[in-house]
Amino acid sequence: MSSSSSLPRLVPLFEIGSAQLAPVLEAERAEWAASLDWDFEPALASLRYMLDNRVLPGVAVAVGDRGVGYAYYLFRDQRALVGGLYFLPEFRDGDWPRLVLQRVFQELARQPLARSIEGQILFPGPERSAGPLLRASGFQFLERRFLRLEAPAEHPLPPAPADLTLRPIPEGMLDDLALVMTHAYHGHVDARTSSLYLSFDGCARLLQALVLRGGCGPCEASLSLMAAVRDTPAGAIVVSRISKGSFFISQVFVHPRYQGQGIGRVLVGAVVNALARRHPGAGLSLTVSRDNTRAYDWYRRLGFADRLPHYAFMKLAGD
Ligand SMILES: CC(C)(COP(=O)(O)OP(=O)(O)OC[C@H]1O[C@@H](n2cnc3c(N)ncnc32)[C@H](O)[C@@H]1OP(=O)(O)O)[C@@H](O)C(=O)NCCC(=O)NCCS
Repeated sequence: MSSSSSLPRLVPLFEIGSAQLAPVLEAERAEWAASLDWDFEPALASLRYMLDNRVLPGVAVAVGDRGVGYAYYLFRDQRALVGGLYFLPEFRDGDWPRLVLQRVFQELARQPLARSIEGQILFPGPERSAGPLLRASGFQFLERRFLRLEAPAEHPLPPAPADLTLRPIPEGMLDDLALVMTHAYHGHVDARTSSLYLSFDGCARLLQALVLRGGCGPCEASLSLMAAVRDTPAGAIVVSRISKGSFFISQVFVHPRYQGQGIGRVLVGAVVNALARRHPGAGLSLTVSRDNTRAYDWYRRLGFADRLPHYAFMKLAGD
């Protein structure tokens, strides 16, 4: 990329290397750390690799030779995933997020193989211009919240069904748990912005990615638990490590047949207690759809503080 123009303009990511995008990527790394205590470096390392090998499709906003914002897209399991949508603060409020997204959608329209287009806007601002475009283009566009519990203390576990047992998630039972998860998310608000929740295959892929492949940071095996009632899998909680001092609940679900009996409470309580014992002072975070009122209100009652609104969007092919 070379241009003497100081006016912002759209540039294909294929024309831009990580050095030109460095100010944006560095700001993004710093914001993940400051707002979420999340180590974004591993994700950035693969983005830099793809940028420098000119294999990352997407669009940047550039001023002269300097990138000031970007979005990319990748295909996974017939889903087009839009990532980035990150802009330096002075480029969040104007029209640039909408223009970038519009260009991404134009490119995706030329490769109609994906069954869905899905993405998130993690840091506030871009949703002001991107939101109306998403809604007008038929996307589901929902607010989510990043919640955080600071240095939790140990508490007695709440009462639970007498025949409930908890144990570390056995790798051999991931498919059984994926089935439980499929039922837990049937008709759920989160299935409006992530197509993985719509099928057993999707739930199985998500669970495997989180537990076996560090999909949300390395899975903390000792904090990731399966709940069983008389040896029948009833639910699970998956926890990953997102930085030196922070852990993240990437999944918690209970089969509808067992919901409302205190199993969710016991799963979260067991994680909080283990964290307080083994990693005193560490924080525990999660994200939740604002419309998932039952879970959101429950986390707030548990002492999770509301740290950051963000947004998720999805459109299924044919919608
Ligand atoms: C969220 C979920 C894991 C909770 O599991 P659960 O075993 O049903 O939860 P519990 O019975 O332990 O109850 C947990 C809290 O929800 C409340 N609750 C339970 N059923 C409720 C209902 N029908 N309406 C409102 N609140 C309810 C309980 O009062 C409790 O709060 P309290 O401890 O302050 O009293 C479960 O509902 C689920 O799998 N939902 C679908 C997946 C999901 O939303 N996961 C969370 C994504 S962030």
